[in-house]
Amino acid sequence: MYAVETQTTITRELIKTTPGIPATDGAGVEMTRIIGTPDLSMLDPFLLLDSFESDQPQDYIRGFPDHPHRGFETVTYLLEGRMRHKDSTGNEGVIEANGVQWMTAGRGIVHSEMPEQEDGLLMGFQLWVNLPKADKMTEPAYQGFADAEIPVEQRDTGALVRVITGRTDEGIVGPVVNNFVKPTYLDIALPAGELFEQTLDFFDNAFIFVIEGDVKVGEQARSLGKKRLGVLSDGERVAITAGKSDSRFLLVAAQPLNEPVARGGPFVMNTRQEVLQAFEDFRSNRL
Ligand code: FE2
Repeated sequence: MYAVETQTTITRELIKTTPGIPATDGAGVEMTRIIGTPDLSMLDPFLLLDSFESDQPQDYIRGFPDHPHRGFETVTYLLEGRMRHKDSTGNEGVIEANGVQWMTAGRGIVHSEMPEQEDGLLMGFQLWVNLPKADKMTEPAYQGFADAEIPVEQRDTGALVRVITGRTDEGIVGPVVNNFVKPTYLDIALPAGELFEQTLDFFDNAFIFVIEGDVKVGEQARSLGKKRLGVLSDGERVAITAGKSDSRFLLVAAQPLNEPVARGGPFVMNTRQEVLQAFEDFRSNRL
């Protein structure tokens, strides 16, 4: 007996785009909220994506003084500038350009994120990644990597792929380890007109965010412009072509959790009761 197999690779297409909305957070930091808005409330397991970019100190100087988190992970990726972080587990450090901080809040952490500069450009992203129900109360943990510790894959097309987490098709593995939702987080610089391809797990949720230039996505070649997020359909192949100018974009993916989400400010749990408990634990210094 034998079977005739037809192998079909499904290429991910652009199914939704959003520019996000202006938002203010922390002690008055101006930013763009891209995930976590009425237009795109979440992309399981991604709960929030903020983009900040300003050379006006009044937009960022107040920073994010001490505040708590429980139940998920915060990922700060800085493109320009310097930020100092400090948390209740004793971790402290400065994130510099092209550095990443992947913090697992787990059962609870109190931290601050303050600009370590009084002027100049501050630019980067903060992504919130949900934790599975079974791991929401895990021990807080922290992974930080500077520019030089993040591998950059150089492809024949001239593409430069910074691998924060996940594995590229050419076998480069990023330094952040995350077995909760097995994320991929790539920062890709792609010369004009060139094609970038990457394999992802078929059912991972995935998005791209265009930092510079513009791109065409998938077989349908739908366009995505600068400063826009594009949600990708399911499939194992990502194919992105840079437009007329050199482009830079993030490709981020992870396994969806498909669990109930209860949000309350800095806490993201599975039920309203668990969120109220988190506020109560924070008030009584039990985070
Ligand atoms: Fe935070």
